[in-house]
Amino acid sequence: MKGFNRNNGELFLDDILLSDLAVSYGTPTYVYSASLIRSRFLEYKDALRQDDKVCFSVKSNSNINILKLLNEMGSGFDVVSGNELRRCLLAGADPKNIVFSGVGKTKAEIQLALKENIFSINIESENELNRIIEIAKEMGVEANCAIRVNPDISAESHPYIETGLKTSKFGVTKEVALNMSQKIRTSENINLIGLACHIGSQIIKPELILDSLEHLIHLADEVNRDLNTVTFLDIGGGLGITYKDEERANPSEIISQTLNRLGDLNFDLILEPGRSIIGNAGVLLTQVEYIKETENLNFAIIDAGMNDLMRPSLYSSWHNVSTLDSKELEEKIYQVVGPVCESADSLAKDRALKVEEGSLLAIHDVGAYGYVMSSNYNTRLRPPEILIEGSTVQVIKRRESFKELVSLETNNNGT
Ligand code: LLP
Repeated sequence: MKGFNRNNGELFLDDILLSDLAVSYGTPTYVYSASLIRSRFLEYKDALRQDDKVCFSVKSNSNINILKLLNEMGSGFDVVSGNELRRCLLAGADPKNIVFSGVGKTKAEIQLALKENIFSINIESENELNRIIEIAKEMGVEANCAIRVNPDISAESHPYIETGLKTSKFGVTKEVALNMSQKIRTSENINLIGLACHIGSQIIKPELILDSLEHLIHLADEVNRDLNTVTFLDIGGGLGITYKDEERANPSEIISQTLNRLGDLNFDLILEPGRSIIGNAGVLLTQVEYIKETENLNFAIIDAGMNDLMRPSLYSSWHNVSTLDSKELEEKIYQVVGPVCESADSLAKDRALKVEEGSLLAIHDVGAYGYVMSSNYNTRLRPPEILIEGSTVQVIKRRESFKELVSLETNNNGT
């Protein structure tokens, strides 16, 4: 069986009984399904043409074993730090399939990108362009770059994950992009090979992506009148998934509309999806430590906190919560909260659940921006990550130990 399924009331992911995993590896624990990741990746790959690239957005889930799986399927990668780039290299990625975005690239990060000769550095400001030119000169290399354009389009999602508005720190306006292309024309150490755009995340309306494509096409036309070097358009990531009842954005439909719009314009396409590939493929397994019934509310206090999964506290985001079994208990409305000493440490509000102390739960759709945003707040140890493929279980990251956690603070490697 692929994906989540119930048998006799027990929740399985692919062929694995999730309560068995919770017992064997403890809780909280992240679990991902390789088959779900593969099928979401193929939706992109199959809809694209030979020379187009799917560059998985490493920030959404940067586990090296996940990157390896995607690399083996022919994925490229979108990175936003030198260390994400190093992770991709460890996973065996070809630098020719890596693009590097982000507004604050340091000198060392640019040097690394140039040394590895990655596909493209996506430049986010005029001063970054100046810095890249200087470093490329020093190193005696040519830098292959794209300009990230800010089209002033709302992604119509949570304000924290909008990146394409003119009030945002990302990208540059069309006018600045044209100035930058003039500068590039007269510089020897830089090739402007693409234009990029990413307007935000959890986008549900495909027309927003098509609007930003329109900006890229018009700008590419102007830039190419002088330079004629722009060969690809990178339309970013951002396609939304179903968390509650939203209709997900369908990658193959959006790609087919994009290719239609491109028609016989001679541009390769790059996409940078993260959430839409891995978001629905992961769950966080957790256990109810206590039930606390107060005058006003019922709390199910679980062993996963905002440090393990930050999205609900940071964005008030909704994640479905389900029990791993279906015991006949009284159904009540619960506030599902963690052990962290903050009132923001709530993972799910007002959920109808049949639970008691010791009940095992799954928090759904946490494959993207779950583990990667976790922290050690309250000196909590980060959970393990497990990848399952059919009936095979692979621990792709161990649970942290206290000794490991304090080893950077002590001379004697902890106690
Ligand atoms: N490309 C760029 C340049 C990005 O900044 C991002 C995400 C992506 C691609 C991938 O977007 P995706 O396909 O995953 O939507 N922590 C937030 C999401 C932050 C997204 C940041 N940029 C969350 O948990 O919702």
